[in-house]
Amino acid sequence: MEWIVIDRKEYMRSSYSKYWKNARKNVYGFMEYDKALITLIDNFSKKFGKILEVAIGTGEPIANNLEKIGYQLYGIDISDRLIDECKKNNKNIKCEVGDAEQLKFANAEFDLTYCVHSSWYIPDFNMAVTEMVRVSKRGGVVLFDILNMHNREIDKIFRFHYFENVNLIGMLYKTIKNSIKFILQKGTQDWPFIISQTPSNPIAIYDILMGRLNVEQINIYAWHEESIIDLGSANKEYEEYPRLIFVVRL
Ligand SMILES: C[S@@+](CC[C@H](N)C(=O)[O-])C[C@H]1O[C@@H](n2cnc3c(N)ncnc32)[C@H](O)[C@@H]1O
Repeated sequence: MEWIVIDRKEYMRSSYSKYWKNARKNVYGFMEYDKALITLIDNFSKKFGKILEVAIGTGEPIANNLEKIGYQLYGIDISDRLIDECKKNNKNIKCEVGDAEQLKFANAEFDLTYCVHSSWYIPDFNMAVTEMVRVSKRGGVVLFDILNMHNREIDKIFRFHYFENVNLIGMLYKTIKNSIKFILQKGTQDWPFIISQTPSNPIAIYDILMGRLNVEQINIYAWHEESIIDLGSANKEYEEYPRLIFVVRL
């Protein structure tokens, strides 16, 4: 399994970062979902404490806007290319290269730690959650979103991603698709044959948080029809929702 983990992180550093550097601003922009996440973070945080974004990317638009509201923003990302871009975008964000699975911070440094749009790229996201809890203060908050592996739509997308990167016929299909993009000079080519995205199991994450990490409270939200809905705090599959947001009080 080790070689898959190393390859996936290398893929994020060398290949994905080239795409994301421009795509964050030019393809995705400042989405309604980003605005809702900022509001959620702002509602749950201690004004104006110390916040860490894990897998910060270019810092746009979430960390950047939180910093402008008045928070002290810190960030880490596995890609030096994206960290350079983040520094260029906002000099007040203290960001550095780092791995979500091994955060280079002392225990209980932050009032709030969050990781959004990223859990599915991190090979051992349960480890990243453990690390986010470790570096956050008691009484503080950890917030992250996941792709829900119990949702049919997400499962279908993951199965296709697996087919294109592991199955021989799927790999041939992906090669032809990339070649057409190359010839027509259209779209983004995605050459490495690698499983770069995996959905998460909300039940397993809930059990880790409540059991081993002994957190105070978990609130689960979903992004549904362009708004955030509060699902309460039960440990369920929430199969109707593709994307879940965990807000964890320590
Ligand atoms: C889709 S981008 C999201 C970036 C940012 N959170 C945002 O909302 O724009 C995913 C990010 O995860 C980062 N990443 C992937 N694996 C990582 C890891 N193991 N540790 C830290 N960052 C990682 C990537 O470099 C990339 O910046």
